[in-house]
Amino acid sequence: MIVVVDFGSQTAHLIARRVRELGVYSEIVSYQGALKKIKSMEKVEGIILSGGPATIYFKDALTIESEAFELGVPVLGICYGMQVMGHELKGKVKQGSAQEYGGVKARLNSCKLFKGITGVQRVWMSHSDQVVKLPKGFKAVGNTKNTKNIAMSDEKRNLFGVQFHPEVNHTENGMKILKNFVFGICESQKNWDKAKWLRREIKDIKKTAGSDRVICGLSGGVDSSTAAAMVYKAIGKQLKCVYVDTGLMRMNETEQVEKDFKKMFSGSLVIVKAEKQFLKALKGQIDPEKKRMIIGELFIRIFEKEAKKWGKVKWLVQGTIYPDVIESAKSHDSAKVIKSHHNVGALPERMDFKLIEPLKDLYKDEVRVIAKKLGFEKHIVWRQPFPGPGLAIRVRGEVTKERLDRLRTAEAILREEMLKYLKIEDTWQTHAIYVPIKTTGVKGDERSFEEMIAIRSLESKDAMTGDWTRLPYEMLAKVSSRIVNEVKGINRVVYDITTKPPGTVEWE
Ligand code: XMP
Repeated sequence: MIVVVDFGSQTAHLIARRVRELGVYSEIVSYQGALKKIKSMEKVEGIILSGGPATIYFKDALTIESEAFELGVPVLGICYGMQVMGHELKGKVKQGSAQEYGGVKARLNSCKLFKGITGVQRVWMSHSDQVVKLPKGFKAVGNTKNTKNIAMSDEKRNLFGVQFHPEVNHTENGMKILKNFVFGICESQKNWDKAKWLRREIKDIKKTAGSDRVICGLSGGVDSSTAAAMVYKAIGKQLKCVYVDTGLMRMNETEQVEKDFKKMFSGSLVIVKAEKQFLKALKGQIDPEKKRMIIGELFIRIFEKEAKKWGKVKWLVQGTIYPDVIESAKSHDSAKVIKSHHNVGALPERMDFKLIEPLKDLYKDEVRVIAKKLGFEKHIVWRQPFPGPGLAIRVRGEVTKERLDRLRTAEAILREEMLKYLKIEDTWQTHAIYVPIKTTGVKGDERSFEEMIAIRSLESKDAMTGDWTRLPYEMLAKVSSRIVNEVKGINRVVYDITTKPPGTVEWE
């Protein structure tokens, strides 16, 4: 396996993911205690030091002991990682005369790392510091107009550094560089397949949980379902899944979840019907974050009650995936809070649970592969993300049963029509929003003054950025016509053509 040492980089996970894409298992460890951890790990074939925002020549800079370069294991330092290597091995790192950000033309010279890709090419840079004097044993193997040592190599010891980011798509031959490192230099075998990962994770969960009771808030989404199924495979009936029907679900959703999971988690699924409680708590509330908090709080109370009924529960399973971790990161972390996604954080803080989060290093598409391996049906594998607070944040303003029912009908029409034109996986998320703004129209021969449905459809890889889907006009026309005809109180349909950023996926 290849270990990625994280120095606080936004792309450490991307590096690990790229290595896994090559078919080699990769794990991330924090720079703190990294050396000890690596020494205790089995079969470490290579180490990649990630980038990071720190400055290596400052006091208390984030670093790794120089012993890491003497383990006989190949090391690749990326950006700040190269500076760590340069500094620890007694070269010199300094602020360069010019900073380079974004796409830059670079010349890469012959060495094991650049096998088959030497010459001038575009690489992605983000730095102001650079290794100005190489450590002993290294030679410069790349440069740009402004940076002399954009890459360095010590082929005898298999130590390499690149100032640019091979893991991002914008670096022309980035994947080839990682491939050279992983296969050519580390001599790893292409043997990471998801079935193996799954078996190992299930074994780990079994070890972690022992004979303890474990509880899971199941939403029916692909993340929580996959996490729960893994835990169920590990410990069977020691797991209880609680599905709370908040009344904020889409049409027939609860029935579908009941059908899908009763079979799979035989006896371990509890469905709590709580529509009335949620609607009562939301009455008169119009502020999105307040609505989220109310829903989160009530959800926890209901969940707590279920857990107590069962006795002493030690662990909570969460289907947290890597993008959730970044978007909900606390403000002192690298990414700022954008919305309070209550599925991350709130439950364990309140309830003193320990967490089992088997998917927290994976991206959505990787989770879908695992879901498929576990035997889930297509509609779960490809279920589009649906927010924890459900339709409450898709009804702008106050949430009422009437508005929810109208939105549910509109959403069902949208889904039905969409599936005639596209596959569910063709868009990241496609949904309807209830907009309680009255506009004038004509229905029959009469003036109408009614509310509005908006359609939002995004293409995205991870919900962090996205572009609006160019949905077929014909499909939009059909959806619009059906909604104004079939949904009571609606006389207008609009299509949201805002990218993310600046628009978020959900309207609230
Ligand atoms: P935004 O609207 O922040 O959405 O661009 C990004 C992704 O997160 C989902 N989302 C939520 N999920 N609780 C959740 O569990 C929430 O409060 C919440 N708000 C947004 C959204 O559907 C999209 O997939």
